[in-house]
Amino acid sequence: MVPASASIGHQSSLQVALRRLGAIKANSGISTSNSLGLSTKAVTMSTPSNNPQRAPWRDLLDSHLQQTPGYEFTIATVGYDAQQRPVPRLRTCGCRGFFPELELHAKGQEAMDQQVEGGGNPPIFESDMLSFTTDARMDKLPQLESSGHAIEAVFWLKDLMTQWRIKGTAYAIGNPSGEDAPEEKTSRTEITKALRVKGDTDSDIAKWTWQNAVTKYFANHSPVARGSFRNPPPGQPRSSNPNQSDLKLGQSVFDLHDPVARANFRVVVIRPEEVECLDLTDQEDGKRWNWTLIGGNDGSQWNEVEVWP
Ligand SMILES: Cc1cc2nc3c(=O)[nH]c(=O)nc-3n(C[C@H](O)[C@H](O)[C@H](O)COP(=O)(O)O)c2cc1C
Repeated sequence: MVPASASIGHQSSLQVALRRLGAIKANSGISTSNSLGLSTKAVTMSTPSNNPQRAPWRDLLDSHLQQTPGYEFTIATVGYDAQQRPVPRLRTCGCRGFFPELELHAKGQEAMDQQVEGGGNPPIFESDMLSFTTDARMDKLPQLESSGHAIEAVFWLKDLMTQWRIKGTAYAIGNPSGEDAPEEKTSRTEITKALRVKGDTDSDIAKWTWQNAVTKYFANHSPVARGSFRNPPPGQPRSSNPNQSDLKLGQSVFDLHDPVARANFRVVVIRPEEVECLDLTDQEDGKRWNWTLIGGNDGSQWNEVEVWP
């Protein structure tokens, strides 16, 4: 069932693309950026030191997810209790696929076409990094910051009788201050290390911006789901009224650059280091594979071992 380790070489187009990457500016000068309070300072995107090879498990996970409409996964982070002991924290989140190749639904693309210059980023990058969205006011982001960004995600794909576990580090992007916010700068740098330039691209790489990448994820939410980023602060006692009058339940947001919602909206990108697939299709002959990234993301070589289930 698991294909032999595969790597797709895009070296010639990669060389061209990497040369042009140096020219990438994080801000494209789109006027709507200013309504978000995003820094208008042009920031050069750090260039990936190499083009990481496609992970050997990626296509299999991708095909499994494609067969599982509306998939959620469980996200584990590390928190600390009152005695400063590390404690696991888990919650369900909606998986948004591999960053940054989100497939927008028709209404989302319509909003992008109307509100973002060129309808969004050109399709230049792909990666093995899974993504989800969250509210910056929730606990998981400070937990990532205080634990060396440690994360594990798990899918139980019941129709396929298969469990996937993805362990690694995770980084949040979407801070309206852009790279003026140190954590945003760190996130962009770390995510860039595992981005791949697509082999079949002849798009203008200088038109790719981090803001547009995040806006696409925001557009993929329904207006009511976008409105949840204008909710009163998640996890705070309901008896305490927020002192911001625009924070209310049940709002619909049509403006993709709504400054209140976008101040809270983040895309979390998981950079995998260890991946495990457990296939229980045949309960008498369970199968389990483990892939480990050797030499960190810069080395980008995966070691594949079939283990006892
Ligand atoms: C089906 C389902 C999908 C969810 N999707 C997300 C999501 O994509 N992102 C998110 O932050 N929370 C999502 N939640 C809410 C989380 O489970 C959790 O309650 C919230 O993120 C607060 O967690 P935290 O304070 O530990 O960060 C979802 C919950 C359910 C039941």
